[in-house]
Amino acid sequence: MTTPLQARPIPDIVTAIPGPKARAHVEFDHAWTSPSLPRAYPIVPVRGLGCAIEDIDGNVFLDFTAGIAVNSTGHSHPDVVAAIQRQAAELQHFSASDFYLPIYAQAAAELARIAPMTGPTKVFIGNSGAEAVEAGLKLARYHTRRQNVIAFLGAFHGRTMGAVSLTASKAKYHARFGPVLPGVYHVPFGNEGLDEIEQRIFKRLMPADEFAAVIVEPIQGEGGYIVPEDDFLPRLRELCDRHGILLIADEVQSGAGRTGKMWAIQHWDVEPDILLAAKGIGSGMPVGAMIARSELMTWGPGSHGSTYGGNPVALAALLATIRLLENGLIANAGIRGREIQEGLRPLVERFPNLVRDVRGKGLMIGIQFDSADTADAVQMQAFERGLLVLEAGEDVVRMSPPLVVSQAEAATAVRIFTDSVAHVAAHRRADLEEVEAEREAGLITEGFGAAG
Ligand SMILES: Cc1ncc(COP(=O)(O)O)c(C=O)c1O
Repeated sequence: MTTPLQARPIPDIVTAIPGPKARAHVEFDHAWTSPSLPRAYPIVPVRGLGCAIEDIDGNVFLDFTAGIAVNSTGHSHPDVVAAIQRQAAELQHFSASDFYLPIYAQAAAELARIAPMTGPTKVFIGNSGAEAVEAGLKLARYHTRRQNVIAFLGAFHGRTMGAVSLTASKAKYHARFGPVLPGVYHVPFGNEGLDEIEQRIFKRLMPADEFAAVIVEPIQGEGGYIVPEDDFLPRLRELCDRHGILLIADEVQSGAGRTGKMWAIQHWDVEPDILLAAKGIGSGMPVGAMIARSELMTWGPGSHGSTYGGNPVALAALLATIRLLENGLIANAGIRGREIQEGLRPLVERFPNLVRDVRGKGLMIGIQFDSADTADAVQMQAFERGLLVLEAGEDVVRMSPPLVVSQAEAATAVRIFTDSVAHVAAHRRADLEEVEAEREAGLITEGFGAAG
């Protein structure tokens, strides 16, 4: 009989990592799944509870990835499980695009209530982050009757054709898919980019009144958990206002309470015109939302829709998630985030040749290393010690734990991560060889790192 997760310490590593069943499963997986999936390392999860993940070999890990910043309320939070079960027994699907599904309007009203805009808003609900991005892009073009869009280098907005055209974190996302959407202009993230918009784009490439929107992640996610200068978003807002350009905040990764506020953009008191949410807002159920100021929703019936978008079971999870976020989890994200960052910051002084920066807000924390190789090696050492973290950008390891993370779990993560960095500092060559061996064995995706 398997011991329930509640009764096990976190972490609890009982086999070599990866274990024999994990290795066998990776082989099975490779036989059947699309080789386009970038696998960071061979964790094969079968069960989760709170911040604990049990793998196929019975090892228990402390999960500081949360399924790429998705399991905001922790794995299988009882309130979310109950909401899903209740809804699944009542009504599993009835397309909200063609009919009047009560929970769809209810979820839209809730999202409008928590939106970081002071005026009225309306909501379109889809199934994923990329779908939210597509909806925002389409609405911006539709409403403004302008075609062009500005996005930022390092941004990740998804992989569907429109979204991937806005994405500029890795060239590989565009390879052999072109031509991508025309009319997308990328500039550096931060104040440097604002100068480029005014001096290069508007002056020499395309006039400002040809732009529908600027899309921005208030804190860049996959690009490396990059927090911009404090005046960046207010200045960007002012630039958009000056030229009648819509400001789209992509909060797919930074939203849903992760940074210690419901939306990251609220750290700078800036209101977007359109806000995109997904990932953490559904606790792992597939849901994405595009929230726009009501006056922008000028499109008519048939302009946009989705068969599954706003699936009732996903929306039951979303409503339960918002309740949990507001009843303590956002506050916890702020407190635990500060503790973790304070715990990690000494790494910069202790390992000045390896650790370049510890940064972030709340539970969106990035640790920057001297190189991608070091980040790889630290990620792997942490994995072997029972801590799941995930690379971001070129040389950053990100921590995005569930917002239910306790003080003890935060302390454990800091300890294991510190041990992992210390090990890489002392045995760098051996640790890099180990990563290389895993890559050769097909357990890690060649030369890519994490995506999303
Ligand atoms: C900021 C941001 N936008 C959009 C997306 C795309 O979301 P999805 O993978 O659900 O399509 C992601 C995914 O990582 C993201 O981080």
